Amino acid sequence: MIRRGLFVTGTDTGVGKTWVGTQIASLLRREGVAVAPRKPVESGCERRGGELIPADGEAYHRAVNASQPMAQITPYRLHHAISPQRAARLEQADTTLEHLLAAALAGVGEDAFLLVEGAGGFYSPLALDGSNADLAERLGLPVLLVAPDRLGVINHVHLSLEAIRHRRLPVFAVVLNGLDDGVPPQGMDNLEDLRGLPCPVFQTQCGVALTLGDPLVRALLAANAG
Ligand SMILES: Nc1ncnc2c1ncn2[C@@H]1O[C@H](COP(=O)(O)OP(=O)(O)OP(=O)(O)O)[C@@H](O)[C@H]1O
Ligand SMILES: [Mg+2]
Repeated sequence: MIRRGLFVTGTDTGVGKTWVGTQIASLLRREGVAVAPRKPVESGCERRGGELIPADGEAYHRAVNASQPMAQITPYRLHHAISPQRAARLEQADTTLEHLLAAALAGVGEDAFLLVEGAGGFYSPLALDGSNADLAERLGLPVLLVAPDRLGVINHVHLSLEAIRHRRLPVFAVVLNGLDDGVPPQGMDNLEDLRGLPCPVFQTQCGVALTLGDPLVRALLAANAG
């Protein structure tokens, strides 16, 4: 029975789930938390020496100082750079929801902090027979929603939160992530516009690494103490 962890999802692909997730994994580990990162299925893996190399899986492997075997972090690897569901069909991989769930939980101790990154957004297809939402629901972990801090994100955050609530999952927080999008439109303030949400909203800056003093990291440490 897993007691602690996060399911990291996003409003889209390429919004910073791995950027945020790996830093959380690394910082919590430095504070003595036994972090078990999992990206159970990854598509778009490069072939290197006859092996498929998952970039996100490798980033999590580095983030926890190789304390977890790569084979456990990302067991299902697909070559096509499309949704893992479609890639699995093309490559005849057996990535059912049941298998991804087992992969996410394999080798995770009862006291571990399980950090699972899906692929794409909450309703993006993930397993052969299910979405990120389905895996998140089976895991029952609090959800961290990563969203790019750009114009148009308010709509995507509200839609995603509605979907997460529909699955009766707790939302740990929303992260407005500062991607390299150029100069934001004058007057844009997504943090201000999302005030009033029933969950915390944190903000990251482009290229600025998270630290132990960061409010998001402090909230995580406080919620997972003991
Ligand atoms: N705050 C940031 N500052 C600088 N670069 C960032 C930041 N957030 C994300 N990036 C960069 O943006 C790119 C996309 O981020 P990332 O890979 O974390 O997205 P993702 O949501 O995990 O994507 P995927 O859906 O493919 O898993 C990466 O090159 C990452 O290094
Ligand atoms: Mg990623």
